[in-house]
Amino acid sequence: MKTPSTRKSGGGLGRIVLYGALSTALLMALYAGNLLLAAQGLALNNESIWYAVRSSGIVAYLLLAASTAWGLVLTSKIARRWTSPALALELHTYLAWTAIGMTVYHAYLLLFSDYFDFGVIDLLLPFVGPYEPLAVGMGILGVYLMILTSASFYAIQRIGYKTFRAVHYLTYAAFVLATAHSWLAGTDSELLNPLYLAVSIGILWLTLLRVLAASRRARGIARDEGKNSQPSYTF
Ligand code: HEM
Repeated sequence: MKTPSTRKSGGGLGRIVLYGALSTALLMALYAGNLLLAAQGLALNNESIWYAVRSSGIVAYLLLAASTAWGLVLTSKIARRWTSPALALELHTYLAWTAIGMTVYHAYLLLFSDYFDFGVIDLLLPFVGPYEPLAVGMGILGVYLMILTSASFYAIQRIGYKTFRAVHYLTYAAFVLATAHSWLAGTDSELLNPLYLAVSIGILWLTLLRVLAASRRARGIARDEGKNSQPSYTF
């Protein structure tokens, strides 16, 4: 059975194009956001920092959801039709690391806000901070799990594929923690909770499809797809 450690190292150009396009889109979105703020006469004051904390949190959550969703469909027929396995995997890891980057930015901004009294320790240690310690603590644990699961990919040779897969299941815990955090810590709960709910239902639905597909494969119903279509990456 092929594992990520045995994959061929193709797709170099595709990887560059993909990273370039995604980074450009992200920078353009941030730039447009800044222009919008400037047009409304908003300087970098407490209020704009607070808006940035919240908006970066929402973007981080959507990136995490996108990475989780893409991870769940990565080996499906549809994904394989659209893209090569190597490129599909790149997109998955890119989304995961971008979600981590956005979360770090989200937390870092809190240091500059007078609305909250966060210090560095409050951002690193779960459940001790000055604001909603339980909800924020879940966010901190969530980002640690995001980092652990994303970094473990680069240690497959060392820890073995079986351990890597076991660790990778923690992405579900990371998603649940991030969802609980977003739901409970957010100021605009009434407005945004339906979004978190819809995204969570989507992830649950994709997980069920994935489990069904795996059990069908195990029962041999999909034998025609058999050995040749054995996915290269099975998370
Ligand atoms: C070090 C980890 C984290 C810290 C210290 C932290 C801190 C906070 C704080 C203080 C708030 C409340 C802001 C407000 O609305 O007034 C918040 C909201 C939020 N956070 Fe985090 N967070 C962390 C991790 C995460 C993660 C991992 C995600 C998702 C991937 C996330 C997504 C969100 C979202 C969506 C909101 C709600 C924004 C709103 O409704 O206004 N956070 N976070």
